[in-house]
Amino acid sequence: MQLAPVAGHIGAEVLGIDLTQDISEATATFLRQALDDRLVLFLRDQSLDLPTLKRATTVFGPLLRVPYVKPSPEDADVIAVLKEADEVRIGVFGGDWHSDFSFLEAPPGGSLLYGEDIPTYGGDTLWSNQILAYETLPDDLRSIVDGRGAIHTGGPYGRQNAPDATVATSRSIGISRGNSDADREVLHPAVRQHPTSGRRALFVNPIYTRRLEGMSESESRPILERLYAHATRPELTCRFRWTPGSLAIWDNRSTMHYAINDYDGQRRLLYRTTFAGERPV
Ligand code: SIN
Repeated sequence: MQLAPVAGHIGAEVLGIDLTQDISEATATFLRQALDDRLVLFLRDQSLDLPTLKRATTVFGPLLRVPYVKPSPEDADVIAVLKEADEVRIGVFGGDWHSDFSFLEAPPGGSLLYGEDIPTYGGDTLWSNQILAYETLPDDLRSIVDGRGAIHTGGPYGRQNAPDATVATSRSIGISRGNSDADREVLHPAVRQHPTSGRRALFVNPIYTRRLEGMSESESRPILERLYAHATRPELTCRFRWTPGSLAIWDNRSTMHYAINDYDGQRRLLYRTTFAGERPV
């Protein structure tokens, strides 16, 4: 088992593991440690069906069913991330920088995404290291976020912050909109500590963070914009070129990610599972 970094500060390809075989405790420990170190792992040439994808997910935590996104008809623990070739000039699932579902009391610990049908070009995914984002914050921003909370809501799924009804999104992924329970505000620390590595990561979210604790939305906005610009600097990121049979595993506690929507006219299908996390501290 070996790790080959794919960028300076985040991401590594894992070599020498076939997830269709039994996953020994030594392999599971290697993968968990590698995820703590590199935050995103990539395994190529896997031949996973949904049960083996789910089994691999439980190496990292219990399976979690996320709200507001319809699961695949094949399996309630799996989301089919699909855009059909004829769906052009529309938004895609995950097409902005975000961590997943940060508006939940206990946001996911991470996710696995398995490439099934991949465009011949385009459709890459980016991840960004939020531990390094925190460590390299300018002093004035660090003094604002240290010890402060941030308020998150499930904006895109709710009523108050729902997207404009005229914004076209993929018909191939069932998103439930207009749920008033998604407008509920949840307070999380703007800097969180990782439960196993102990490292501190910036934890604000361009999609779900509404404002910083003790500030109005308009006071928060310019600060959040500076935080997001810093948190997504290219030096903090890696970019993955999908191939059929490749698997990405990411730590949702200390990364953000972005699905690049540049493959109109081609079909893209990936299967996604999620593992549970804890209330951020
Ligand atoms: C997501 O945000 O989970 C989707 C990522 C992708 O489609 O690349």
